[in-house]
Amino acid sequence: MSLTTVEEAPKIRVLSVFGTRPEAAKMCPLVLELQNHPRFESMVCVTAQHREMLDQVLHIFGVVPDYDLDIMKPNQTLSGITTRILEKIEPVLRESKPDLVLVHGDTTTSFAVALAAFYQQIPVGHVEAGLRTYNMYSPFPEEMNRVLTGRLATLHFAPTSLNRANLVRENILEKIFITGNTVLDAFKTTVRENYSFKNTILQKLDLNKGRYILMTAHRRENIGPPLEAICHAVLRLVKEFDDIKILYPVHPNPAIHDPVHKMLGHQARIYLLDPLELTDLHNLMAKCHLVLTDSGGLQEEGPSFKKPVLVLRTETERPEAVEAGCVKVIGVKEDAIVEEVRAVLTQEETYQSFLKNPNPYGDGSASRKIINAILGWKEPLI
Ligand code: UD1
Ligand code: UDP
Repeated sequence: MSLTTVEEAPKIRVLSVFGTRPEAAKMCPLVLELQNHPRFESMVCVTAQHREMLDQVLHIFGVVPDYDLDIMKPNQTLSGITTRILEKIEPVLRESKPDLVLVHGDTTTSFAVALAAFYQQIPVGHVEAGLRTYNMYSPFPEEMNRVLTGRLATLHFAPTSLNRANLVRENILEKIFITGNTVLDAFKTTVRENYSFKNTILQKLDLNKGRYILMTAHRRENIGPPLEAICHAVLRLVKEFDDIKILYPVHPNPAIHDPVHKMLGHQARIYLLDPLELTDLHNLMAKCHLVLTDSGGLQEEGPSFKKPVLVLRTETERPEAVEAGCVKVIGVKEDAIVEEVRAVLTQEETYQSFLKNPNPYGDGSASRKIINAILGWKEPLI
């Protein structure tokens, strides 16, 4: 019996499926590596759970989807997203016949696509597997999306050893690969010395003068009173510190956009921006003084730019950066937010304490590690 040679073996057909801005930011670097690898036939399907924010990222990486489910609707519901994806992905899976479907993280796209692939008995690879808070309502619905996607997946690409341990605790014992986070791979495409911003408001600001706070808030569990408390805290902070400026690219979800504009619009030194292109966001992070956010991605990116990240949530599924001292979870209560930001703004020692340790989410080689793991699974004899 002779072994198959590399030249003889059919290429491995990988369908990467994603739908939102953060998934695109973290999957596009992997898609580029798959496209350039001779052993893979790379296909991309976007659900377009997000539309403009997804397209912004695709454009930056030059990724052109083979399939676009175009499911986004204004004010969409979770069951609406799930059912539209389940219906529309089925013929795509039948036509594209992938050996492996790759999904990312914890969105409703990830869960619905993993379920649809399971229905057709197509193996699923889960990128950014194993993050947990163990609170099914926080982050909501992401914690459960991630647990269910993990249950449906065959290959688990865990950013850290802690993520791997979380999976093992759930009796997922095989085919877990520690890879780091692919978001660090994205910096090769996005971060530039002497970068010129595309956003016209950023173009006009002198980012070397004063202290800029980059802020984002969009999580479903923060909609309503927590978001109002966050806005009140920001108003108090700009009043107390006359050298700070808030740069807040606002998520287009009307449940976020409308109250934020109502509370923070037309306030001195608060700049409400349209969602920034990923290149603008990353290069702005390199220049700002501090990051105030409820975003998962910003918690992973901030430490690479050596900026303190204060998290506007009550818990995080990304404790590695907290343990490394790069990130602090400060909750969503007005007084606590003001106190924590004040401490970082006024105490140099506190500020510096965030910058001591390296980013715990890897070194920018996650995509390559994922590809090697897929090769080892699919072609152990080649
Ligand atoms: C989704 C993910 C969340 C992720 C976030 C990143 C789920 C359930 N939620 O939440 O995990 O952290 O993306 O941003 O998967 N909209 C637009 N244009 C866009 C994108 C969104 O107008 O390009 C508006 C639409 O009105 C849409 C609404 O935002 O209905 C909410 O979008 P949705 O994907 O349902 O929720 P996110 O809060 O963005
Ligand atoms: N991001 C961006 N423009 C913005 C805000 C965020 O490109 O105006 C990027 C950010 O750098 C990160 C990703 O979007 O890579 C995070 O997305 P988001 O905060 O929407 O989602 P989460 O990470 O919380 O799921």
